[in-house]
Amino acid sequence: PDDPGAWLATRGNWQKNVPACNQCHGPGGIGVGESFPSLAGQQAAYVAGQLRAWRQGQRPPGPLGLMPAVATRLTDAEIDAVAAYYAGLPQAAARQTQGAQQ
Ligand code: HEC
Repeated sequence: PDDPGAWLATRGNWQKNVPACNQCHGPGGIGVGESFPSLAGQQAAYVAGQLRAWRQGQRPPGPLGLMPAVATRLTDAEIDAVAAYYAGLPQAAARQTQGAQQ
């Protein structure tokens, strides 16, 4: 795919058992309810840092251990790509004022 970060976010990687991030984090990564935080517009270094922390067992697993399960299946390149992808998306609040879709 042209943009591996966007691909992972919207389609996942089924060969590696990684669901699309947006299935849990909502369309455009804007978050769903209180359980699934927004990723859109977060700093790339922050997102990548959290994924690596889970991969290394340095962040508590959280609900059902969902994120460690995802993070341990990602390569460094995938982590950097998906982090850069979300950093480039508008945050939820900005999206509402812009009326943006997806
Ligand atoms: C099966 C559901 C699920 C999928 C799929 C999923 N996540 Fe998550 N994600 C969660 C949950 C639940 C949390 C909250 C965990 C916590 O805070 O303990 C979370 C939290 C996060 C956080 C921390 C956000 C913050 O503000 O600290 C990041 C970063 C993240 N996910 C990235 C991703 C990426 C990237 C993908 C795709 C590769 C992904 N997630 C796929 C459920 C999921």
